Amino acid sequence: MKVALGADHGGFPLKEAIKKMLDAQGIAYRDFGTDSTGSVDYIPYAKLVGGAVVAGECNLGILCCGTGLGMSIAANKIKGIRAACCADWFSAKMTREHNDANVLCLGARVTGEDAALTLADVFLHTPFSGDERHARRIALISELEA
Ligand code: RB5
Repeated sequence: MKVALGADHGGFPLKEAIKKMLDAQGIAYRDFGTDSTGSVDYIPYAKLVGGAVVAGECNLGILCCGTGLGMSIAANKIKGIRAACCADWFSAKMTREHNDANVLCLGARVTGEDAALTLADVFLHTPFSGDERHARRIALISELEA
């Protein structure tokens, strides 16, 4: 597994913490920035991470900003991206099992670091259920992109 990571200034510290978690688990990642708490627009990072996932360079992506909302709105504009902004464990798990979400968006000003790491962990380690009804619904979502 390889994970694409991106953040704006609000999510930068959380992205760094996620990198430490991935290092500890031996999970490969590519960090698309940002590299500091200096103010930046979040959109380019959503584009880079979403692009890496759609291209197949990375299996899953994690985007961090202040709320997770701007990142999820931006990432969901990319064809093939199903980005889920999650602040609770159940949603982070279900969006993999039911929605086959391929990008997790986290709000560093909403979710404390320990909880956010738990969400990232469950997201990365939960497979899509493969259930026919969920696959059908995902296909219907894809039709909205046309
Ligand atoms: C940046 O101040 C903030 O707007 C951003 O991190 C994010 O929360 C946007 O949705």
